[in-house]
Amino acid sequence: MSTHPTPPSKVSRRRFLRGAAGAAAALTAASHQKALGAADRFRLGLIGCGSRGQHVMGLFQLDPSVEVAGLCDVFEERVLAAKAKAPGAGGCSDHRRLLDRQDLDGVLIATPDHWHAAICIEALGAGKHVYVEKPLTLEIEEGPEIAKAARIANRACQVGMQQRSGKHYLEAKREIVGAGKLGKVTLARTWWHGNTYHLRRAPESLQRKPSTLDWARFLGPLKWREYDPQQYFNWRAYLDFGGGQVTDLFTHWIDVVHMMLGQEIPVSAVAAGGVYHYKDGRTAPDTINVLLEYPGELTATFEATLAPGIQGEGVELCGTEGRLYIDRRGYEYHPAGRGAKPVAVKAEDREMTIDHVQDFLDCARTGRLPRGDVLVGHRSAQASHLGNLAYLEKRRLKFDPVREEILPL
Ligand SMILES: NC(=O)c1ccc[n+]([C@@H]2O[C@H](COP(=O)([O-])OP(=O)(O)OC[C@H]3O[C@@H](n4cnc5c(N)ncnc54)[C@H](O)[C@@H]3O)[C@@H](O)[C@H]2O)c1
Repeated sequence: MSTHPTPPSKVSRRRFLRGAAGAAAALTAASHQKALGAADRFRLGLIGCGSRGQHVMGLFQLDPSVEVAGLCDVFEERVLAAKAKAPGAGGCSDHRRLLDRQDLDGVLIATPDHWHAAICIEALGAGKHVYVEKPLTLEIEEGPEIAKAARIANRACQVGMQQRSGKHYLEAKREIVGAGKLGKVTLARTWWHGNTYHLRRAPESLQRKPSTLDWARFLGPLKWREYDPQQYFNWRAYLDFGGGQVTDLFTHWIDVVHMMLGQEIPVSAVAAGGVYHYKDGRTAPDTINVLLEYPGELTATFEATLAPGIQGEGVELCGTEGRLYIDRRGYEYHPAGRGAKPVAVKAEDREMTIDHVQDFLDCARTGRLPRGDVLVGHRSAQASHLGNLAYLEKRRLKFDPVREEILPL
């Protein structure tokens, strides 16, 4: 049984986080971490050695200055799988043991979303630079607490929204949006259908809890329940662990909208959807529509379904002078007016996350803010959470963009 404090409800979970933020401040004052020089090695610890964690770890390893020196996962099998790719690294199952290590400069956090906030705050408090996977948060209140911890600790905190570092995204922002070629943009459409991550079936080997999987520690800040292989393996389908397709996928796309248009805080949200196709006990909707309204006469929509008949994803910015379509493969600009020639640009054959990792390493060394800074990550998660809250509460939510608070009914 884990010794980690396990608050029984969401209310105590918030108190738990506030405690962690306080601890962050106190620990920072006592931190003896030296500043990183441009030529220094960067010793990295990975927390959450699942599919994304191992993949991004490999992208860190492309940089010769990086040494993966620590690995942590609540399931020993995952630590061993990562260790095969980073043989010198020490392994553990409790992230606090990893954060105690004075020889680590930074951590990559790739656990499911319900652990992001607590581990981020503790890592920053321990003086580590943090690359945390998106979405930054599980709940809307967590963002400002993580941002505060990052600023107090004065450490880089990069959120894994790699489009921010994607060359063709930066080019489209500069050459199309920034050059005024869209005119006034009033509608941002986004969609992401058929994402198979949400349909993962736990393999035979996980049907009974493996003895080397610490289920209590996996649950961590959540309410206790008996081991469930689907909740471990396909946690994205359960709203306790993440925000379903909205925080998993829309967070990427609304972040592109924020990046392109400079608008980051919605003023209202409505949503509708449900579990229409996969009645397998999941709590996250398999079909969802979100509509956000931003100041300055802009609306943003997201639609996603796991209905087997449709696939595909993209972002479209519609303006008075033209339309920009963009996804991970490239972008197309369609000027308004009959006969106007569209422009199509293919993305380079290079994974954007490599550049996002490089941006993070540079920020850890120079002190500048990363492209996917914690506040940027908070705002994109916040917009997604507003969509989910509108869905759950079945009402139009109004949001105060100055105080960043949901307005009472
Ligand atoms: N940026 C992107 O494009 C992108 C792509 C995929 C996933 N992600 C994000 O990466 C994160 C992980 O996703 P995944 O698909 O790799 O999930 P996964 O289930 O494959 O891996 C998560 C791992 O975290 C471990 N874990 C859980 N709690 C832990 C704890 N307290 N300490 C240490 N390890 C713990 C699990 O045992 C598991 O091995 C998610 O937040 C997801 O949204 C981002």
